[in-house]
Formats: sequence, C-alpha cells, structure tokens
Amino acid sequence: MSRFLIIAGLVLATCSIAFASDPSPLQDFCVADPNSPVLVNGVVCKDPKRVQANDFLFRGLHLMGNTSNNVGSNVTAVTVAELPGLNTLGISFARIDFAPMGINPPHTHPRATEILTVIEGRLLVGFVTSNQLDNRLITKELNKGDVFVFPEGLIHFQKNLGNEYAVAIAALSSQNPGVITIANAVFGSNPDIPADILAKAFQVDINVIYQIQSKF
Ligand SMILES: *[C@@H]1O[C@H](CO)[C@@H](O)[C@H](O)[C@H]1NC(C)=O
Ligand SMILES: *[C@@H]1O[C@H](CO)[C@@H](O)[C@H](O)[C@H]1NC(C)=O
Repeated sequence: MSRFLIIAGLVLATCSIAFASDPSPLQDFCVADPNSPVLVNGVVCKDPKRVQANDFLFRGLHLMGNTSNNVGSNVTAVTVAELPGLNTLGISFARIDFAPMGINPPHTHPRATEILTVIEGRLLVGFVTSNQLDNRLITKELNKGDVFVFPEGLIHFQKNLGNEYAVAIAALSSQNPGVITIANAVFGSNPDIPADILAKAFQVDINVIYQIQSKF
C-alpha cells in the first residue's frame, strides 16, 4: 500500500511538472540575487529586507531597438535577467521593433506562451502546429491594437507589412522564456550538425547545406 502511494505520488509530481509553466511562488516575492553562487531552478532570492523598489523596475521600453541587421528586427527583452523582481513570477515582457519589411524569423520559446499586441504598424504573424496536427500554418494580418497568441513551444514568426517602422509588445508566461531561432539552431550550431544529416533531413544536395551553414 505504501509503495502504491509513493508511486502515485511520483506520478502526480511528474504530471504537475509536465503540465505547469514556471512554478508558482511560495512567498510574496523572490527578487533574483544574480550574485549568489548557488544554482537552483530559477534564481536564488535576495534577502527580502534588502529588496528595493528598483528591483521591481525596468526602464527603457520606450526606446527603439536597432533594426540594422540581416532580418530587420530587434527584440528588447525584459526577463528575470533584466528585471530581478520577475524571479518566480512566471511572466516576462518584450518590445519588438521592425524595420520596413523586417521579420522576426521563425523561432520558438521552449518555456512560454506569448501574447502580442501591435502598437504601431501592420504585421503578418503566424505559427505552425506540431506534427500531431499536421504542421498546419496559422497566420493573421494584425493592425494596431490587435492581439494575437502564440501557444507555448510552437514555431512562430512576425513580418512588418508596412513601409514604416512597426512596433509590437509581447508578454510571455515565463520569467525566462528562452528563444530557439530555427535557422541559427539548425544551420549555425557550434559545432555544425553534420551536413549529411541536414541534407537528408531537408532532402537537398549537401552543397546546399554547406551554403546555408556558411551564412550562420
Ligand atoms: C538591438 O538593439 C540594441 C539597442 O539599439 C542593440 O544594442 C543590439 O545590438 C540590437 N540587437 C540586434 C540583434 O541587432
Ligand atoms: C545600428 O547598428 C548598425 C550595425 O551594427 C550600426 O552601424 C549603427 O551605427 C547602429 N545605429 C545606432 C543608432 O546605434
């Protein structure tokens, strides 16, 4: 009987990990102490008596990111790394700037759902469902004030459809959502994924793979 309870307990514990996003807080706040040498899932708490209002503050999201790069976009992230008060709270924020015709290339956040709104301009946004749902592409054109959600873990992208700069604000359901940019991870890993593997995976000549790898 007790063995059954232990096994049931383990199954329940595993389920709650599998279905949860960031763990729920067990106190009012746990402001990140980036100087602590202790490694935990998250960041160690600063002594609550030493916590200041500034620990809950990030300044600068009114500033445009520099979009003079290959893709024509720039993400200003406000995660636990930039705002220590986010530690254990399961949420973060970002500003995304787009040059005319700029894109935020296909990427995924391994730990977060993302909800996005357009502040300025017009965007084409989309995400691709998992293999189970036949990799269906779901896209929408968004105007100022429209809100769109990218479900946790799915590959998604945005493109500026206008001839002016565009700006979006996004909230994410993790203090540290993480980003995997598909092109960089697949063709720009360090060291490279062997080209013959990618040639077979993408069903192209190996020289096509070498050419793409050389860009990253
Ligand atoms: C994004 O913009 C910031 C601020 O202008 C700049 O420091 C950073 O290098 C830019 N990042 C990319 C990837 O262009
Ligand atoms: C933006 O980034 C480009 C490329 O790195 C750089 O040449 C340019 O000076 C930057 N612009 C500003 C305003 O910082």
